[in-house]
Amino acid sequence: MKTLYLEITDADEELIITKAADIILKGGIVAFPTETVYGLGANAFDGKAVKKIFEAKKRPMDNPLIVHVSDMEMLKSVADISNDKVKQLIRHFWPGPLSLILPKKSSIPKEVSAGLDTVAVRMPNHPIALKLIKKASVPIAAPSANLSGRPSPTTAQHVLDDLDGVIDAVIDAGAAQVGVESTVVDISKDIPVVLRAGAVSAEDIKRAAQVEVVYNLEAKGKETPKSPGMKYRHYAPKAKMVLIEGNLESIRKKILDKIEFYLKQGEKVGVFCCVKNAPYYSRAFVEKYGNPETAAAILYKALRRFDEIGVDVILAEALEEKGIGAAVMDRLRRAADQRL
Ligand code: TXA
Ligand code: MG
Repeated sequence: MKTLYLEITDADEELIITKAADIILKGGIVAFPTETVYGLGANAFDGKAVKKIFEAKKRPMDNPLIVHVSDMEMLKSVADISNDKVKQLIRHFWPGPLSLILPKKSSIPKEVSAGLDTVAVRMPNHPIALKLIKKASVPIAAPSANLSGRPSPTTAQHVLDDLDGVIDAVIDAGAAQVGVESTVVDISKDIPVVLRAGAVSAEDIKRAAQVEVVYNLEAKGKETPKSPGMKYRHYAPKAKMVLIEGNLESIRKKILDKIEFYLKQGEKVGVFCCVKNAPYYSRAFVEKYGNPETAAAILYKALRRFDEIGVDVILAEALEEKGIGAAVMDRLRRAADQRL
């Protein structure tokens, strides 16, 4: 299959959206930008089309997808939103990087929900994503547009690196701003549970919506909702990855030791670190960030670049687990083979 490359320009935007919506309505699969990462979309009402997503990504069929909607009418056609907390969260955080696990309606085929009676839904905060869903007039089921196990794509080029030739089209609208996937919250239980950390933190949710939430780990022993996706290894770079924790200075010392250790063994070393420490690591390949937001924005690009260079080991500095820093740490932990 030839993958259509559709680059958004002011002049061509309308044409491209129409073309992409048409492919989706005909049962095809199209990668498109959202504010978090690029998604690989199909008509959420079309089980056969949704199956193609799993085949292209080589994704296990028991890992359900997020359904993307553009308005409340569409939301009501896929999920039950009678819960008051749901309305509150939507008012505060949509459109935005928050996915809600809701009781699903029968319009959603089993391919989307992996046979569960719930469905994950979100309204993305990206003009192209919203226009695409509106134009198609159907909700769009979309996981991240990477091969299963690879870092999520934050550019159209990342999508092509993984999926060129196995998807119908990719819309290019530049780099995704947030850089890590949406926060996933299961709201079907008494106390909402964060199943996956993202740009919207549990603290944000408590503050803005006066809704009590806990992270999945804290819910241990209680009735724990599970996210099927969590049992798979995620965000894995090809290189071995070591996550180094501590304060700025102790982290720096440990990393400098490690760089020497690996260099002596003839290995290529990459370091993911803050700008303050970066100048010390001149003997390694460095990907640096100025604050937690930038760390999130460049994380997956950095992991992919390290793979391209062919580094043997990635040393990653731990971040403070506040705000989006918690989401970055979650991804680093999942990618790491070792923690020091
Ligand atoms: O930011 C994002 O969320 C991106 C963009 C494209 O919207 N999408 C994304 O989708 O990251 P995906 O498929 O890579 O991750 C969806 C996560 C998985 O961990 C999956 O197991 C979980 O959401 N999930 C989906 N439906 C669920 C359900 N009904 N119950 C529990 N977990 C669910
Ligand atoms: Mg994914």
